[in-house]
Amino acid sequence: MTDTSPTVIAVGYGGPDVLRVIEIDPGDPGPGEVLLDIRAAAVNPIDWKLYAPSPHADPTRLPMRLGFEVAGVVAAVGPSVRWLSPGDEVIAWRVRGGYTGRLVVPEQVTVRKPASLDWAAASGLLLTGATAVHTLTATRTGTGDVVLVHGGSGGVGRMVVQLAALRGARVIATASPASHDDLRALGAEPVAYGTGLVERVREAAGAPVTVAIDTVGSDEALDSSVELVADRTRIATIAGFARAAGLGVLALGGGPGADPGTQVREAARAQLVELAADQALDVAVAGVYPLDQVALAHEVSRAGHARGKLVLTP
Ligand SMILES: NC(=O)c1ccc[n+]([C@@H]2O[C@H](COP(=O)([O-])OP(=O)(O)OC[C@H]3O[C@@H](n4cnc5c(N)ncnc54)[C@H](OP(=O)(O)O)[C@@H]3O)[C@@H](O)[C@H]2O)c1
Repeated sequence: MTDTSPTVIAVGYGGPDVLRVIEIDPGDPGPGEVLLDIRAAAVNPIDWKLYAPSPHADPTRLPMRLGFEVAGVVAAVGPSVRWLSPGDEVIAWRVRGGYTGRLVVPEQVTVRKPASLDWAAASGLLLTGATAVHTLTATRTGTGDVVLVHGGSGGVGRMVVQLAALRGARVIATASPASHDDLRALGAEPVAYGTGLVERVREAAGAPVTVAIDTVGSDEALDSSVELVADRTRIATIAGFARAAGLGVLALGGGPGADPGTQVREAARAQLVELAADQALDVAVAGVYPLDQVALAHEVSRAGHARGKLVLTP
């Protein structure tokens, strides 16, 4: 029997005011599972989108647990666990219900946490990093490409910028001016989004833009991408799904399952951790909040300008 731990649930569909913290027994690890003492759980926009009002809102999914990625210490292991022992420090993604103090997860979703990575950064590495790898793989980005990244200052965008540069591409990234120095430090050429975007990108590029990766989903991001990039199979969006098919650009998601995109994402775990351990990949942490301030963290995330990962600590 394990102790209960504080756990975030959404009790309805709406804004962050539907969030509660209650005590839940995490249970014991079964075969192939480990119990984690969670040190940090990263916030992603999908977390608050899941309980946002929508025509597809399903009351049978309430109360809803939240949180897809965590970092923590193995507290106990179940039968036939192969690699992990109590005391091991790990990152886990993709998990269900990560906004909690203790969580049972399959061993196979864990990867060892490098000592050089702090808990907050570790928790926020994999969902954004794996999404970025998927966008770059799907668009066949490599040496010689000129890549436009919409939302380069966001959680996913910063990963796309860094990983595209590591692949030898030239990177132009849109962001608010407050993030332009950060983007330059990551190897990108920043441009402001808003009226005149296409002209600013053309001037910055001085050459054809060959790839566009949209992490924003706005009309501006999609329309400028198709105006600037000749080959629509080299334009990908992770947020503008409603118009993607009509424009003939790639719409990339990453749910559970065996589709090729999910496989690309899951296979990226080890490489992402290695790069972060070597400080070749930076995770910016914009804010760390105790679990009982989850509503505040979600307000900041929903505003869309966090400039890094938001992280909860139990
Ligand atoms: N399909 C998938 O598999 C997948 C996976 C992960 C995320 N996502 C989605 O991708 C989106 C981004 O996620 P994230 O974690 O990177 O979010 P985030 O960290 O909150 O970043 C938001 C980004 O959007 C930019 N932005 C905000 N308003 C903008 C505007 N009006 N025009 C242009 N850019 C604007 C911000 O730039 P400034 O702050 O510089 O203004 C920032 O770079 C979310 O919708 C998320 O749900 C999808």
